[in-house]
Amino acid sequence: MRILVTGGCGFIGNHVVRNGLLIPGVESIINLDALTYSGHAENLNDIDDERYTFVYGSINDFDLVSKILNDHQIDVILHLAAESHVDRSINSVQPFIETNIDGTRVLLESVLASKQKGHIVHFVNVSTDEVYGSLGPDDEPFTEDTPLNPKNPYAASKAAADMLVQSFVNTHELSAITTRCSNNYGPRQFPEKLIPLMTLNALNDKMLPIYGDGKQIRDWIHVDDHANGILCAMLALFVGKIETGEVFNFGANNEQQNITIVRSILSQTNANESLMEHVNDRPGHDRRYAMGYEKASRVLGWKPEIDWATGLSETIEWYRINTAWTDSITSGQYKEYIRTQYGHLAK
Ligand code: NAD
Ligand code: DAU
Repeated sequence: MRILVTGGCGFIGNHVVRNGLLIPGVESIINLDALTYSGHAENLNDIDDERYTFVYGSINDFDLVSKILNDHQIDVILHLAAESHVDRSINSVQPFIETNIDGTRVLLESVLASKQKGHIVHFVNVSTDEVYGSLGPDDEPFTEDTPLNPKNPYAASKAAADMLVQSFVNTHELSAITTRCSNNYGPRQFPEKLIPLMTLNALNDKMLPIYGDGKQIRDWIHVDDHANGILCAMLALFVGKIETGEVFNFGANNEQQNITIVRSILSQTNANESLMEHVNDRPGHDRRYAMGYEKASRVLGWKPEIDWATGLSETIEWYRINTAWTDSITSGQYKEYIRTQYGHLAK
């Protein structure tokens, strides 16, 4: 199997590449990444495997995507490239429209063009629980049948991409599925998201900004469990075990309030509780997410394996030890170096 991962230098993408290389029968993994602020080529620098190739470039570049599909005779695309941060989407929507919607459109059109030449490329669209909106305190977790009700620009852009995928399945009979997952945590997450941000701030004696009352709930899943879910779904699609157009939810049955997580981080880093600061709430802040993943368990044989207490403490320890990673990911010079190194590969 020859795989194209989009956004492989990001948080979840690098774990998908790593775990994908462990699957017997995977002949090659091409990673197409534009190295935006959250993408970091160094996330995969330790991969010493001739089956792995990094291509610097954008999913919005139809010619480049089509060339990769053709040159590497790609069998399946795992599509993770995105603008992924809700706060940024509130401040500036345009990059979310361009990458999440139009970038997905370009990939789908490239897959369609390949199909018209007799080359079938399967497509796994990696989406989010945020497309379902927000739950009340007593609501049942989201299922795959929950109507889409996105409530912030990021979620709306992901829902639009999901709908585009379904429209290409319906109109052009592409082989495509969508996976939707709850909040991921683990190593190599850009420190704008709750867990790495709070951990690094606690370790560096900086304030920990808690939006509103901090009682918002997310269903936290370890990134390795999510990566394995995506790969299980890919294999099932590839061998024809599941139908085109299907949707799979991934979650961990692990609902936690933000404030509880922050207190735990403070305690595990021996930081002072006075570092916590309640700040203005995120506008339109979703109160609660929880993902029902019965379908993924039943059909794909997938379930989350990593226990929250262990996963969280290992994650905190990872950020404590890997200071070079933090320095490097936040350094503009590093980005410039990568652009100079790989710039000639992009159009
Ligand atoms: P991330 O921001 O860490 O990584 C995104 C990656 O995409 C980066 O490497 C970036 O350089 C790349 N990228 C952005 N625009 C690109 C473009 N035009 N062309 C090529 N590459 C581009 O995001 P993440 O947290 O790893 O999320 C990956 C995917 O998973 C996203 O689609 C996101 O919506 C989805 N998701 C994330 C979570 C989560 O908790 N982080 C949960 C559910 C779903
Ligand atoms: O649910 C899946 C989604 O999870 C993914 O689709 C997104 O890509 C990913 O970014 C994440 O979105 P969230 O908005 O839930 O994640 P974030 O880490 O930004 O925030 C988690 C919670 O913590 C949320 O309730 C907001 C709160 N928060 C966040 C930050 C960054 C704070 O209270 N303070 C903060 O500084």
